[in-house]
Amino acid sequence: MSETEPEIRKGLVGVVADVSAVSKVMPETNSLTYRGYAVQDLAENCSFEEVAYLLWNGELPDADQLKAFRAEEAGERAITPALHGVIRAFPQDAHPMDAIRTAVSFLGLEDPETADVSEAATRRKAMRLLAKIPTAIAAAHRASKGLAPVEPDPKLTFAENFFHVVLGKVPAPEVVKAFDVSLILYAEHGFNASTFTARTITSTGADLHGAVTGGIAALKGPLHGGANEAVMHMLAEIGEPSKAVAWLEGKFDHKALVMGFGHRVYKNGDSRVPTMTKYAEKMAEVVGDRRWMEMSRLLAAEMLTKKKIHPNLDFPAGPAYHLMGFDIPLFTPIFVASRITGWAAHVIEQQADNRLIRPLSHYTGAAQRSMPAR
Ligand code: COA
Repeated sequence: MSETEPEIRKGLVGVVADVSAVSKVMPETNSLTYRGYAVQDLAENCSFEEVAYLLWNGELPDADQLKAFRAEEAGERAITPALHGVIRAFPQDAHPMDAIRTAVSFLGLEDPETADVSEAATRRKAMRLLAKIPTAIAAAHRASKGLAPVEPDPKLTFAENFFHVVLGKVPAPEVVKAFDVSLILYAEHGFNASTFTARTITSTGADLHGAVTGGIAALKGPLHGGANEAVMHMLAEIGEPSKAVAWLEGKFDHKALVMGFGHRVYKNGDSRVPTMTKYAEKMAEVVGDRRWMEMSRLLAAEMLTKKKIHPNLDFPAGPAYHLMGFDIPLFTPIFVASRITGWAAHVIEQQADNRLIRPLSHYTGAAQRSMPAR
């Protein structure tokens, strides 16, 4: 390699940018651990609140610690009349990810500790964001449908309260559990694009609200979080299982991307897919509508046979959220409500051992030249 032609890893493929003790993605065994615990075990045995505590503190909480964590989160859920006013002023057709990005930015204007980047203040702000994000997502979603907001209920768990503020009711426990599992699976995933964005923002000395606002902007893209919505649009477009394979062949003919498939790190299967698929299947049983999961099964089998590409978490999450009763535009904001835990854990880690993130570029523009005479 000559000095003028440095090796460029387009998309930073394979680049190890820093150390992290938050989660470990192991593509060779299709596995993922948060603070050392397998994500499947956490999903089956823990609540989302316990996992949030784990991500932020390194250990699972005991009963008293969990009680205190839940009480703190539940006590911070309300948003101000000013933020409700801002949300009501959003254009009716505002993209929900733009809405929650703007709401988080506004929460930064309101938070008394925004500028304080100490670890203690960052932890308090992270808790406030965790608690208030669902309230803001729900208020924006309901406003876009001409509905009044629903006040959060501190007696409900995080997952129950999400249904309550969005839909005005809490569904059966098995539906709440499936949603809770999805929150756990979405909570954290190493140096993905939105987390790396949040860490890059943090590395400049900027605050948590800025990092999370940037993280949401990155998560919106269809190559990242936006894929869970795209999956459900795709299933709706296909319409019925008998059309799935022919639809896919048409995509192959055009070399089009099939949403919900492929992953930068996992090339032999996404560790989170079996757990989410199991709960999506449960939702299909509860609702009595097998169409979406049947279509999904056929698409996944065909993608594997013809392209050797496996589904990612967004693939089962899309139909699962639909079966839980959520409108499609809420799917990626739900990802935000969960991933705030991972983002905040990384912001705290970055702050604790910070160095400005500032890579180089290899210039390929015009050679140096003289200014034309004026
Ligand atoms: N549908 C069809 N082909 C796909 C594909 C998909 N979803 N994902 C990857 N491929 C193909 C690529 O076209 C490429 O083919 P080529 O070698 O003939 O050019 C090959 O598989 C390797 O993929 P690559 O683009 O190098 O992977 P990447 O690591 O850069 O991208 C994603 C990873 C996630 C961005 C990509 O798989 C994708 O766009 N998936 C769809 C969006 C999605 O579900 N995102 C959520 C991610 S969790």
